[in-house]
Amino acid sequence: MSERVGPGARLLVTGGAGFIGSELVRQLLARRDGTRVTVLDKLTYAGNRANLAAVEEDPEQADRFAFVRGDIADASLVEPLIAEADAVLNVAAETHVDRSILDPEAFLRTGVIGVHVLLEAVRREHERAGRGDRLPVRFLQVSTDEVYGDIEAPRRSVEADPLAPRSPYAAAKAAGELLVRAYGTTYGLDAVITRGSNTYGPHQHPEKLIPLFTTNALEGEPLPMYGDGMQVRDWLHVGDHASGIDFVLRHGESGEAYNIAGDHLLPNREVIGLLLAATGRDWSIVRTVPDRPGHDRRYAMDGSKLAALGWRPSVPFADGLPATVAWYRDHPDWIASAKSGDWDAYYARQYGDRLAAGRAVDGTA
Ligand code: NAD
Ligand code: DAU
Repeated sequence: MSERVGPGARLLVTGGAGFIGSELVRQLLARRDGTRVTVLDKLTYAGNRANLAAVEEDPEQADRFAFVRGDIADASLVEPLIAEADAVLNVAAETHVDRSILDPEAFLRTGVIGVHVLLEAVRREHERAGRGDRLPVRFLQVSTDEVYGDIEAPRRSVEADPLAPRSPYAAAKAAGELLVRAYGTTYGLDAVITRGSNTYGPHQHPEKLIPLFTTNALEGEPLPMYGDGMQVRDWLHVGDHASGIDFVLRHGESGEAYNIAGDHLLPNREVIGLLLAATGRDWSIVRTVPDRPGHDRRYAMDGSKLAALGWRPSVPFADGLPATVAWYRDHPDWIASAKSGDWDAYYARQYGDRLAAGRAVDGTA
């Protein structure tokens, strides 16, 4: 299959100061093939400019990199940036399910209105390309396995399955995807969608399971396990998630969605056991707390569509997890910065009553 976006391409990466976006930017620029990257990021509590230090401190990469602080829902900001791009990778989103349950609005603003604003700007460029005024622009929407909803064992979701989101976060992601699909069908935009599974690795905000439990364990704080801890997730290293997105950008067929599966299904209890071992703690610091409302029991995807094109994950969980714990142990300043701002208020709201009602867990059960 021919490459769609080759060396020297000008890429607009939204959400590039976040966890997956910053890894993607590091990978794209480290190829040193002339690719130019502009990051558009609102720098919400989840965005951190320091995540891009590696590229900003390398003169050759910094020369091919630009950072713009702003909102993807701001048309006047987005339009000139897309006019200069060969491809747009929309990584920006509000991403934490628990926050979407507390306050859904920001999820819809970025996940639906923001996507619509980006697509309108791409449509304008598509029309210019139709008049021969520029080359076509490709749009890649980063989505999630959560759009499939709760998947009963032993089933695995395939790309043609219906979308059945069950949290405000997942509903906003599904809505964003449907808009992308509609713009492809109606206006003929060149658009592709990726659906990644649960991602872990360095630079992930400590609101998510693995960094929260790692940093709490390092600090000797309790680990709040929702319910029985038997919910299943499919773990994908951030380096693999970013390389899967890049692969779909270059090889994906227009109009198609691609699962980026980690192919490593684990119940939360097993992940917690591994984190306790890696941080030198035991089950006495784990508390079972009241469950997340509407908590999906299991996500599982079939990754064979992308494998048939030639991409598979390459980082084994047995290597990636201890390396991730080591990264957090070595970056106390990064953790302190992520656990600043609204962190204490969020933590009290999300976990105050839960931890008060929490009970000890028998780790041998
Ligand atoms: P993150 O929360 O770490 O980063 C999100 C970034 O987007 C931040 O830098 C934030 O400042 C920026 N942002 C938010 N709203 C914005 C707006 N309106 N305009 C511009 N920038 C904005 O997220 P992540 O975990 O890196 O996830 C990135 C993408 O991958 C999201 O689309 C998410 O739905 C998807 N995804 C994540 C996972 C996962 O496990 N983390 C798995 C599958 C898919
Ligand atoms: O599946 C992909 C999705 O993975 C992404 O689209 C989301 O952006 C990302 O946040 C993640 O969603 P999850 O809800 O699966 O991830 P989280 O880390 O919040 O939780 C993982 C599991 O751990 C889930 O079953 C809930 C549980 N959990 C989580 C937290 C934060 C706990 O038991 N205790 C907690 O304190």
